[in-house]
Amino acid sequence: PIFTDALRPAIGFQPVPAALGPDVDVVTVAEGYTARPFFSWGDPVVEGAPSWRSDAGDGAAEQSLQAGQNNDGMHYFPFADAPNAHGLLVVNHEYTNDTLHTSGPQVMEDSTGARLRPESQVLKEQAAHGVSVIEIAKDKQGLWQRVYPSAYNRRLTANTPMDISGPAAGAQAMKTAQDPTGTRVLGTLNNCSMGVTPWGTYLICEENWKNYFVNRDVGDWQERPAHHRYGIAAGVHSHKYYWESVDERFDATPNEALPHDGFVNEPNRFGWVVEFDPFDPTSQPVKRTALGRLVREGCTCVLAEDGTMAFYSGDDTRGEYVYKFVPNGKYHPDAPEANRRLLDSGNVYVAVYRADGTGEWRLLEQGKNGLTADKGFASQADVLINLRGAADIVGATPMDRPEWVAVHPQTTDGYVTLTNNSERGADPRQPVDAANPRADNDHGQILRWREKDRNPAATEFYWELFLLAGPVLQRQTQPGQFKALDGDRFSCPDGLWFDGDGRLWIATDYDEQEAPYLSQGTNQLLCADPVTREVKRFMTGPVGAEITGLTGTPDGTTLWFNVQHPGLSYPASDGKSRPRSTTVVVTKNDGGVIGT
Ligand code: FEO
Ligand code: CA
Ligand code: CA
Ligand code: CA
Repeated sequence: PIFTDALRPAIGFQPVPAALGPDVDVVTVAEGYTARPFFSWGDPVVEGAPSWRSDAGDGAAEQSLQAGQNNDGMHYFPFADAPNAHGLLVVNHEYTNDTLHTSGPQVMEDSTGARLRPESQVLKEQAAHGVSVIEIAKDKQGLWQRVYPSAYNRRLTANTPMDISGPAAGAQAMKTAQDPTGTRVLGTLNNCSMGVTPWGTYLICEENWKNYFVNRDVGDWQERPAHHRYGIAAGVHSHKYYWESVDERFDATPNEALPHDGFVNEPNRFGWVVEFDPFDPTSQPVKRTALGRLVREGCTCVLAEDGTMAFYSGDDTRGEYVYKFVPNGKYHPDAPEANRRLLDSGNVYVAVYRADGTGEWRLLEQGKNGLTADKGFASQADVLINLRGAADIVGATPMDRPEWVAVHPQTTDGYVTLTNNSERGADPRQPVDAANPRADNDHGQILRWREKDRNPAATEFYWELFLLAGPVLQRQTQPGQFKALDGDRFSCPDGLWFDGDGRLWIATDYDEQEAPYLSQGTNQLLCADPVTREVKRFMTGPVGAEITGLTGTPDGTTLWFNVQHPGLSYPASDGKSRPRSTTVVVTKNDGGVIGT
């Protein structure tokens, strides 16, 4: 009964069938809607950018002016004068694919087994990471267009200078040979989901940055929780990309010949929430360390009427946790300068889900809940840099890969996707429990909670499983008990977003060409009613792609989503062109609200 007081949103479209088979190379949306490729890898962003080359022949310099790859989390920021027809679209570029280079990535190996990469390829990959800001507007025909050139248009990459603020700024563990102050860092990596603040800034989140670093001193790695607890490679090369062969800051092996042991602390400078103002093209992004360092999927804000806020995040790795950050200050619409400092101080909590449907946010603060110097936490900077290790100590609940969080616009209930977990029930650290009820969980679930008294700063909450995904959807009747739920089938919920009317949009990420997903069709976007749990399939994507990056106009008449890493030839869909990650714009043919 706790969660059924939301208004029921109108959901009126006819569901689309699952798109089965290995040859699906198109986006299909519900009848009465039009979907159009809008912004793809290689499209010009910064003035002077060349057009995308179909042979991927551009170098790093051109790429740094064009859209990066793997469009992921994004947000539409309206201009006040025409909020539903003019805005800035901010788009994350999570990582790079083999398609970035004309004939794929080149990898050589030296006599030690270390992997070597051509510098030109590494620089292009670094330029294809990060974020795009593009100005967009409706034309005279009412069609959305990218405004080019635009003074707002901007690319952030793996080499853009950024500031570090908050309790870990300037800490010894943040200093490197390149930055003896511990307050300046180059770039952001693996930007997956995101967040938005009430004061209109964008929160870039750094997810699988661990894959870009190596510590070749295995003994040192073992003694350094900031490396091993986050899964940084110990051995001769990084897990992916091998940038360390041409860019020393990705080699996190301690080097006593250099100040601050070289770049052993460089990985400590990733995993943060990075705030920037898309309306100020000269603003320098800031890594806000007060929120802590994770394999951070996203950062979703809930705001109470009195200005109290919380920011929710998943840490997307098997058996990791759900977190929230509560700023010390309150949001004041009339204090724009003070708002810019709100993310520099506050409390970090991690979620504990009890079997009776109640839960607790446990504080991660130095000196409390066992977070003492003898455990490696001598300062709050230590806690924030090894937030996972701190959460281990306070008894957080290991989850089935927490991905996106969405907050209901009226009830302020939080929803988190738990995408899958092959280790559930097999790893003794991850027994089957009420919140993660299936061993070897291939299909994932969505959990929702309500803060006590709907106070974002509460330390107690109520929770339930909204649904279990899979070939047959299920709903929770009481903790640990489920029954079949009518609705369109899907697996591995990942992207999650509420529109202004309270429709819950669910985007998926599974490999539709592999068991047990073969019967689910290609990845898809679904629309759910939070009261009835009715689930309808709104869209299906091309083979190989996950669907992500949900955002829309304030009036609900435009929706954007991302087709990330399509496998065949989308968006050309001609059977021969190089596939490109693409932002798709959707409108209803009668001009109405999407989903009605
Ligand atoms: Fe980049 Fe957790 O997905
Ligand atoms: Ca992805
Ligand atoms: Ca994701
Ligand atoms: Ca995923």
